[in-house]
Amino acid sequence: MTESPRHWVVLPAAGAGRRFGGPVPKQYLMLRGRRVIEHSIAAFIEHPLIAGCAVALSPEDAWWPETAYANHPAVKRVDGGAERSDSVANALTALVGQAADADWVLVHDAARPCLAAADLDQLLAALADEPVGALLAVPIQDTVKASEEAFDARVERTLPRQQLWRAYTPQAFRLGQLREALAYCRAQGIAITDDASAMEQLGLRPRLIEGRTDNIKITRPEDLPLAEFFLEQQGHQEP
Ligand code: CTP
Ligand code: MG
Repeated sequence: MTESPRHWVVLPAAGAGRRFGGPVPKQYLMLRGRRVIEHSIAAFIEHPLIAGCAVALSPEDAWWPETAYANHPAVKRVDGGAERSDSVANALTALVGQAADADWVLVHDAARPCLAAADLDQLLAALADEPVGALLAVPIQDTVKASEEAFDARVERTLPRQQLWRAYTPQAFRLGQLREALAYCRAQGIAITDDASAMEQLGLRPRLIEGRTDNIKITRPEDLPLAEFFLEQQGHQEP
């Protein structure tokens, strides 16, 4: 009899936050009495289905030891890489041995501190009968225009909005398959900005799970007060 797959978390947190700017990387900024990354980890660590977590950090990161999870037995520190996909790949490698190839790995941006318990439960439930994997995503509300060149200001065409989604995290895939997909993209020189893209390169079709719109990624300075507001709306109490 095969055992049912376990669930692990990989948190890419090795970015420099160039678009956000400032002396402290955005994942360590304070948000309602805790650091951004502490919110992101807290969403998973107390969940009964989560077996453990690997956090990818810059080797020069001196802020991590100050966080509440630095010495947590279920949280492992791993060196990140040059791109987000390298950080994820390193963290996945760190899980090998502890985790099986068929186990699920939920990859979640450290810079996404507002993940609601209901969204995590929805994603985990979708995995129960899912061969490939799934990601939280939000249907696009705006009319979307495409331009011919990346920075050309003239409309080439309007894209059909009904089929467009914003890809959020967590994104959940099997440990073995996600490692294979990331290694393939790396070998082919294919740049990817999320984990589902790597799976798509293998011809696989991850399932889209409609999530909450407040699961934002902190990218620019104006996103921090927005995250503050969303946490307050979710009933988050300051410690
Ligand atoms: N990340 C990572 N390793 C990298 C780059 C990014 O682990 N080499 C992580 C970031 O820490 C973040 C997540 O991936 O939690 C999403 O990336 P992004 O929002 O782009 O963060 P940064 O790369 O830090 O920001 P920027 O692109 O503005 O520099
Ligand atoms: Mg980045």
